[in-house]
Amino acid sequence: MRGQTVLKRRRVVLAGGGLLSAALLPAGALAAGGLRIPTPAQTPGPYYPQSLPAKRDNDLVQGAGKPPALGTVAQLSGAVLDTQGRPLSAVLVEIWQCDANGRYHHPADTGQQAPDPGFQGYGQFTTGVDGVYRFRTIRPVAYPGRTPHIHFRLSRGGTERLVTQLYVAGDPGNARDSLFNANAAQSRELLTTSFAPHAGSSELEARFDIVLA
Ligand SMILES: [Fe+2]
Repeated sequence: MRGQTVLKRRRVVLAGGGLLSAALLPAGALAAGGLRIPTPAQTPGPYYPQSLPAKRDNDLVQGAGKPPALGTVAQLSGAVLDTQGRPLSAVLVEIWQCDANGRYHHPADTGQQAPDPGFQGYGQFTTGVDGVYRFRTIRPVAYPGRTPHIHFRLSRGGTERLVTQLYVAGDPGNARDSLFNANAAQSRELLTTSFAPHAGSSELEARFDIVLA
């Protein structure tokens, strides 16, 4: 599993002179010839926000004047790379996901549970020269018909480059999710990462590198 291989922490030099832990590199993602395999695309689904929130930063769990979000907080980060492993700057990384009650901030979501007013539901981050993005969000939860996942949309220079979804390693719902299982085994691995305890806190951490074609 990818979650096991990312535990091999070795230091590597990235193009551009930066140093990143191997935990930030996509394990098992090297194709023949040494090129990285582009992260597979996934459907955006029906719940990309109709209108973006006024607060659209990378902290989805705490907003001014709002209660803390329900759910388990997760520090989600990764590097956006090209197929040669070079970090990509100026990439707008957007994420959106349902709250701990399984509700999206979208009028088409007619779920029965009350939405969590403390969860932002959408966030964005623009990568710097290291290609790294960071979010504080919650470990994704299931909603009817879907295993836990986080939606991603990446664009650069105003051009959409990738829409995909991140899945949780070891979640029992993965085996029942038709969208997840429509992917080949290698793609499922590339789209899956562990949400592991973050040392020194009650939060989780997850690393998900994204390779753009
Ligand atoms: Fe979804």
